[in-house]
Amino acid sequence: MEKALEVKNLSKNYKQVQALKDVSFEIDKGEIFALVGPNGAGKSTALKIIATILSPSSGEVKIYEHDIKKEANKVREIISYLPEEAGAYKNLSGINYLKFMASIFTNDKAKQKEFLNYAVEIAGLGNRLKDKAKTFSKGMTRKLLLARTVMSKPKLAILDEPTSGLDVINAFEIRKIIKGLAEQGMSVLLSSHNMLEIEFLSHRIGIIHKGKILAIGTPAELKEKYSANNLEEVFIKIIS
Ligand SMILES: Nc1ncnc2c1ncn2[C@@H]1O[C@H](COP(=O)(O)OP(=O)(O)OP(=O)(O)O)[C@@H](O)[C@H]1O
Ligand SMILES: [Mg+2]
Repeated sequence: MEKALEVKNLSKNYKQVQALKDVSFEIDKGEIFALVGPNGAGKSTALKIIATILSPSSGEVKIYEHDIKKEANKVREIISYLPEEAGAYKNLSGINYLKFMASIFTNDKAKQKEFLNYAVEIAGLGNRLKDKAKTFSKGMTRKLLLARTVMSKPKLAILDEPTSGLDVINAFEIRKIIKGLAEQGMSVLLSSHNMLEIEFLSHRIGIIHKGKILAIGTPAELKEKYSANNLEEVFIKIIS
């Protein structure tokens, strides 16, 4: 199986804080992999390094065989990153924001149109796209940003807490979109601290705590291994 992502012995220190300690995991093509752990576990740090925003202290990361340090520009062509706390340009309408982002992804007018049409479909905001982004609810903004992130059909989408702060319906819709993208061959790395939600979204998960990966597997494998009814129970059993 072709590897979308290979993370080997990744560590990151912020001065005295050791945010990641020897983290290793892999993602297959078309797989949805979630890093799950409590606040401060190191999820966003790992995602930022993989998205080439932050340098690792040590370790190796390859995306479709391309090294994130030596081939950062090549990597940036095939990934897309949704930060934890991203906003859209508030005075642009939703549709103009997506047009603007398409023009950043490519100079090719036909491609821009293709990306825009795809983003409009993914966002699912209908006529509201004509309104300014500052009038959008949190869930609408997150959908707009998710559409922006995947419009170029990246080979690996890196999504930091894609459903954070969303109500049940909006979170459900975003999960459905992410699943659909993976079915079309996009690989997805996401983070969440919602263990129950992630069980239904991810093919495999890595449980991360204080910068260390404590367990990796499918939700079913982990529940069986720790004789737990759900991932929350798995987590509690692992750390206690
Ligand atoms: N820029 C920074 N400077 C210093 N320490 C940092 C910085 N960014 C993160 N940290 C620390 O690194 C650790 C991991 O933080 P990180 O943001 O990766 O966690 P997280 O798992 O994403 O948490 P959350 O669920 O709250 O988003 C924390 O102890 C945090 O305080
Ligand atoms: Mg975070």
